[in-house]
Order: sequence, then C-alpha cells, then structure tokens
Amino acid sequence: MPAKKTTIDKPVFAVKRSRAGAGLGLFAVTDIPKGAFIIEYTGEKIANAEADRRGGRYLFNINTKWTIDGKGHHNTARYINHSCRPNCESRVAKGMVTIHSIKNIKSGEELSYDYGTEYFKEYIKPLGCRCDKCHARRIA
Ligand SMILES: C[S@@+](CC[C@H](N)C(=O)[O-])C[C@H]1O[C@@H](n2cnc3c(N)ncnc32)[C@H](O)[C@@H]1O
Ligand SMILES: [Zn+2]
Repeated sequence: MPAKKTTIDKPVFAVKRSRAGAGLGLFAVTDIPKGAFIIEYTGEKIANAEADRRGGRYLFNINTKWTIDGKGHHNTARYINHSCRPNCESRVAKGMVTIHSIKNIKSGEELSYDYGTEYFKEYIKPLGCRCDKCHARRIA
C-alpha cells in the first residue's frame, strides 16, 4: 500500500487590500526565504503592437517583440504591487515571467517588485507611489 501523504501544500500568499490608493496586493501568509520562486506571471502572449493598441495596467513587456497581458483574474501575480524597495524581483526567461524573493520575507508582509522606469512614469508617479519607501519619505 502506498504511504499516506502527510504533506500539506500551504499557499504562501493571499490577496488582500493594500495601502490606501494601491488597491489589492499579494501578501505572504508564511515566512518565505530569500531566493524562492513565488509565482509565474501568466496571461495571453501578444505582440507589442497589440499591447500598445490594448493598453492597460496588467501588461508585462517581455522583450522587443512580446508582451504578456495578465489582466485575467487567474493570474494571481497581477496583484503584486510595485515598490521602490522591493522584496521580490521579476525574471524573464524563455518567454516566461516569474517572480522570486530577493529578501527573507516574514509572514504578513506584502510582496512587491520594481515595475521598471517606463511603467512607473506612466502609471505610478502621476498619482504618487504608495510603497513603504516613498510613504516613509513623505511623512519624514
Ligand atoms: C499590476 S496592478 C497591481 C494590483 C492592483 N493593486 C490591483 O488592485 O489590481 C498595478 C496597479 O496597481 C497600483 N499600484 C501598484 N503599485 C503601486 C504603488 N506602489 N503605488 C500606487 N499604486 C500602485 C497602480 O494602480 C498600478 O497601475
Ligand atoms: Zn515608491
């Protein structure tokens, strides 16, 4: 008889309301070590010209030819907010976008990565960045 499986596959994140003005965010529900794979950013792979035509906040540019349109709700990675002092990073390899921790993350902390200059200038800067670093700078 096969051994009874006792491992519980706990999710490592949950979608919750983020800082005021930043909408929903993705939060760790367990401690996550530095260097861990967190999640893939999934969606329809479209040509950059089509991405320009569609526009939107959930477009992740992969390279000079392709973009992932991650607007679908199945793409849980779409809830990860931007930070100027992030605890995760995005990596692009073989046409896939994956998110990895770059710090030890405590349970309850919000996951974040740097969206990059272009996205920041277009969507974050006009209304003010709500990340911890910018928030601390504002109240200092
Ligand atoms: C990929 S979505 C992230 C999830 C989003 N908060 C939601 O509720 O669906 C990116 C959008 O979230 C908001 N956002 C993400 N990071 C932010 C930040 N640091 N400051 C302000 N708004 C942020 C902006 O509206 C941005 O265009
Ligand atoms: Zn910021």
